[in-house]
Amino acid sequence: MTKIVLKATNIRRYFKNQKSKTEFHAVDGISFSVHAGEIASFVGPNGAGKTTLLKSISNYLLPNSGQVEVTGINLLKHPRQARRQLGVVFGGDRGFYANASARDNLEFFARLLAVKEKNVKANVQEALETVNLADVAAKNTGSFSKGMLQRLHIARGLINKPKILMLDEPTAGLDVESVITIRKLVKRLAKEGRGIILTSHNMNDIETLADKIYLIGSGRIHYEGSLAGVKTFAHVDENASLTDAYLAVADQLKRRQV
Ligand SMILES: Nc1ncnc2c1ncn2[C@@H]1O[C@H](COP(=O)(O)OP(=O)(O)O)[C@@H](O)[C@H]1O
Ligand SMILES: [Mg+2]
Repeated sequence: MTKIVLKATNIRRYFKNQKSKTEFHAVDGISFSVHAGEIASFVGPNGAGKTTLLKSISNYLLPNSGQVEVTGINLLKHPRQARRQLGVVFGGDRGFYANASARDNLEFFARLLAVKEKNVKANVQEALETVNLADVAAKNTGSFSKGMLQRLHIARGLINKPKILMLDEPTAGLDVESVITIRKLVKRLAKEGRGIILTSHNMNDIETLADKIYLIGSGRIHYEGSLAGVKTFAHVDENASLTDAYLAVADQLKRRQV
C-alpha cells in the first residue's frame, strides 16, 4: 500500500446558534485517511458538512476536536509546516484580481503562501502549464471563462507543490467541456502521486474519479468503500447507476430538521 499523506481522526466542528444557545454539529466525528495517488471522494446532500470538513482539516477553520496529520506533520500543532504540504481549492468565480494577469495573480498568492522567493516564478510557471493556462498567463483574469478560472484556482492550489490537494466541488457550474477537462486534470494530478480529496454533487465525477467514496450526511460518514459497494449498501441492483444508489439512501443522509 502506498504512503498515507493525510490522516484525520475524529474531527468535530460545531457552530453555536446565538439565539437558541444550542450547538449545531456540522462535522460530527469524522475519521479517514488518504494515500498518495488516491482520490477520496465525499458525496452527500447540501449541508451534510463537506465544506466544513475540508476547512477543518486544512486550517481554514479550527476543529473543536480531533487530529489531522499531513504527511506525518500535526496540522494543529504545526499549522505553517503542515500547510506547506496542502493545496486547497474552493473555486468559484471570485478570488482573483480581475485587472491583473493570471501570472501576477499566482505570483501574489505564491508569496502569500510563503513559497520561497527563488521558487516563486518556476512554481507559478509549472502550475500554469499543469492546468494548461501558460499561453494565456499574461491575460487579465477578468477576461477568463468560468472553466479557465476554475483551472486557475487549481493552479493556485498547486503553487506550493503540495502532496495533498483538496477540491471542493471542482466541476460545479461548468460547461460539459470544462467538466471533462477538470476530470482529466484531477486524474493526472493523482497519477503523479498526490493524494486528492474531493467533494462533488456530480455522480459522473464520482464514477470516473473516485478510488474511494464516502457518503456523508449530518456530519457523519454513513458509508466508505468502493463504488461497487455503494450499491450493496443502498440495496439496489448491481446494474443500477450510482445515481440510483445515491437516491436510495439520500433521505437517510439528510439532516433531521430540529
Ligand atoms: N460559519 C458557519 N456558521 C454557522 N453554520 C455554518 C457555518 N458554516 C457552515 N454551517 C452549517 O453547517 C452545515 C454544513 O455546511 P457545509 O459544510 O457547507 O455543507 P456542505 O458543504 O456539505 O453543503 C450547514 O447546515 C451549514 O448551514
Ligand atoms: Mg459545500
